[in-house]
Amino acid sequence: MSDAASTLPGSYYQRHIFFCLNQRDNGEACCADHNAQKAFDRCKAQVKAQGLAGPGKVRVNKAGCLDRCAGGPIAVVYPEATWYTFVDEADIDEIVSSHLRDGVVVERLRTPHDVGR
Ligand code: FES
Repeated sequence: MSDAASTLPGSYYQRHIFFCLNQRDNGEACCADHNAQKAFDRCKAQVKAQGLAGPGKVRVNKAGCLDRCAGGPIAVVYPEATWYTFVDEADIDEIVSSHLRDGVVVERLRTPHDVGR
């Protein structure tokens, strides 16, 4: 694993990824309508399977709306503050192996800057 982010003072995790799992019942766009739960589950399983989970390593968390719904499904990785829009399990696997494990941002999956709610 790259240690590019591990030296941040006070950082309990090297990288922290949050998946929006928000469900809306009013017909507006939401990440839950784009298999966000399945992607979260896949990421969590892959991080665990690769031994990446835990203090000083990687944490995978659920989140509510991150207010970038138009780009959903959305996840964000800190400390780099890299926003992702993903489609399938292959995308999640690439985020895990490239960014969460090796510290290399997956450029093709970055959410465009102008995407908001
Ligand atoms: S519903 Fe996912 S970012 Fe808003």
